[in-house]
Amino acid sequence: MKNLFRNRQILIFLYSIILLTALTTILCFFIWITPSNFSYIYNHPFDSYNSTLGFNHIYCINLPFRSDRQEKITKIAKFHNLDIDFIDAINFEDEKTLKNYLSDPIVSPRHKACYASHYRTYELVVSNNYQSALILEDDIDFEVDIKDFLNIVQPFLPDDWEMFYLGNCGVDTSNTIYYHGKVYGTDFVLAKSFSPACTHAYAVSLRGAQNLLKILVNISKPVDLALIDLIHTDKIFSLSLLPSIISQWKSYDNPSDVSPGTQGKLYNLKNSTLELVGYRRVS
Ligand SMILES: *[C@@H]1O[C@H](CO)[C@@H](O)[C@H](O)[C@H]1NC(C)=O
Ligand SMILES: *[C@@H]1O[C@H](CO)[C@@H](O)[C@H](O)[C@H]1NC(C)=O
Ligand SMILES: *[C@@H]1O[C@H](CO)[C@@H](O)[C@H](O)[C@H]1NC(C)=O
Repeated sequence: MKNLFRNRQILIFLYSIILLTALTTILCFFIWITPSNFSYIYNHPFDSYNSTLGFNHIYCINLPFRSDRQEKITKIAKFHNLDIDFIDAINFEDEKTLKNYLSDPIVSPRHKACYASHYRTYELVVSNNYQSALILEDDIDFEVDIKDFLNIVQPFLPDDWEMFYLGNCGVDTSNTIYYHGKVYGTDFVLAKSFSPACTHAYAVSLRGAQNLLKILVNISKPVDLALIDLIHTDKIFSLSLLPSIISQWKSYDNPSDVSPGTQGKLYNLKNSTLELVGYRRVS
């Protein structure tokens, strides 16, 4: 009698465990299938607060004779505590080097040199086996709170991203939104790219760099427009931030090397790093 009673207790205990497990499983399943607004799908390590902004490496393409720009970038790097690796841009008069790259004759030597400089940077990313790299041109300015902004969107980066524009010259967004929230009172969006003009600040993943080496050969228009074509035709998977957290720095004493004479529209950051360290822009 006593034994039977104990057996029954054990049985009830076991049934309770099974029931609890089943309930937990069902609950988890429903939590799992309930769509959240945004899903965390990026599972690579990423640390926006470190000296490479969470990427593996930061390159800055710089024409050696533009030491004025190198000085500004160095000030930005110091302010944000960043390691920025300067690489020499290819000069448009360097015909010998430019011969190694393909382009339609309608592409001007300056635009071809710009393209070749970017292409060579992808080669560096791949040969160094960097999982990701931020590629900067040298006429740029950083949002003061850039690390906070990046840290917020980083978990929402799709795992298979290939390009990631931290800044562009327009308003670039699409209907595919990965994050939309208020940051420092500003609407902040991470979306699939649509038409990100300019190439002053974008990251590539290793996969992205490998892909670009294959598909960005023999261009027939300036590199930023050639990239937009690849994005439109889904040959490369690119994301954009809106607003930009890295913008082009334009001032009258800072002419463009690629398109001399163009002043361009100014895309102001919320808080400019260069202004904070004492530079003045035209407005
Ligand atoms: C910054 O973080 C990324 C992601 O964890 C890492 O790959 C990179 O090496 C880090 N940079 C430095 C300088 O430690
Ligand atoms: C590159 O493209 C142009 C047309 O845009 C073409 O005329 C030229 O033959 C191409 N070069 C190579 C090597 O494919
Ligand atoms: C950024 O600018 C806003 C005003 O637009 C100011 O209130 C804020 O303190 C600035 N933040 C930093 C870090 O400078």
